[in-house]
Amino acid sequence: MSQPLFVLNGPSLQLLGKREPHLYGHETLAQIEARCAATAKAHGREIVFRQTNHEGALIDWIFEARETAAGLVLNGAAYTHTSVALHDALRTLSIPVIEVHLSNPYAREAFRQHSYVSPVARGVICGLGPIGYELAIAALADILKKETPPA
Ligand code: DQA
Repeated sequence: MSQPLFVLNGPSLQLLGKREPHLYGHETLAQIEARCAATAKAHGREIVFRQTNHEGALIDWIFEARETAAGLVLNGAAYTHTSVALHDALRTLSIPVIEVHLSNPYAREAFRQHSYVSPVARGVICGLGPIGYELAIAALADILKKETPPA
């Protein structure tokens, strides 16, 4: 079996569906996980899907992805805008990283308009809600198909 795609989620995303639904929608994180698993399966891939409220845990998982994953979808949530440590960990990866946000941070408060993730991401998908995760997985599958040398 090929290496999995990691889908990592940062703080407060465990409350999706309940938290500010006018911004983040009504779907739960479990429903988004199911979408991701189905999309990955359609591309012949498996996912490892996790959420944490702890910066260090997120960084440990990024290093786990570095060793074991084929690609990474990351919604760093608020750490996107604050964490140099997240940026530094991501810089060490050679696997493709897609940054995802449910909302469009560029249409919101000024403090959301800087991302420590974007400069080290292959691509950024934001403002499209849960389908953004599926688009990110499809993009990773496409990148990996194009860039993985034949065995
Ligand atoms: C978010 C956007 C961030 O600015 C915010 O801190 C989040 C969620 C999103 O998915 O839209 O927690 O990453």
